[in-house]
Amino acid sequence: MKFFVDTADVNEIRELNDYGLIDGVTTNPSLIMKSGRNILEVTKEICSIVEGPVSAEVTALDYEGMMKEAAVLAQIADNICIKLPLTLDGLKACKALTDAGHQTNVTLCFSANQALLAAKAGATFISPFIGRLDDIGLDGLDLITDIRTIYDNYGFETEILAASIRTVNHVKDVALLGADVATVPASVIKALAKHPLTDKGLDQFMADWAKTGQKIV
Ligand code: E4P
Repeated sequence: MKFFVDTADVNEIRELNDYGLIDGVTTNPSLIMKSGRNILEVTKEICSIVEGPVSAEVTALDYEGMMKEAAVLAQIADNICIKLPLTLDGLKACKALTDAGHQTNVTLCFSANQALLAAKAGATFISPFIGRLDDIGLDGLDLITDIRTIYDNYGFETEILAASIRTVNHVKDVALLGADVATVPASVIKALAKHPLTDKGLDQFMADWAKTGQKIV
């Protein structure tokens, strides 16, 4: 499973990229707002750090407006992936942009039928938001299961990009269910490496090593 980092904070992206842990980046208008930076400038910087797809979201709600914005976003770098909302206009723009050779990410997906439409529109990625479904008392993981089954039934190549991930358990669960990608906040990616028994074991090894008086270098 690929890991994208869900942030527009270039410091977080640089740090995780240096660890070799990320395959791409997703941003959205809220994350751009949090970064406090101009969308074109910050997205260009992100694209220079990470080799994989960097999702940049259109903000127009109509097809023509989306296509105009997509033309500007696509100019930023070769690894831009145009992010479009799961609306009829968004799907129409997805089809046109995919046909023109761009990578596309259809976002704000909350049902299996929406995911089916995105695949038919040729989306490179579909982004089911599992955390936001959990927030309203549904089970976001059920959506990943349903989309995986439908895409496998018909051999759709659209990749399932599990989004709105909030916990380390979400990451494990979407991996078990066969998501192709998870987009994960930087804090959750780092938390994946933590285990109290790892810390305890390391403390013990370091204490015993000190008693030997040895050095490797
Ligand atoms: C995905 O592309 C979105 O940017 C993101 O995962 C949304 O997460 P949230 O529901 O925690 O805001």
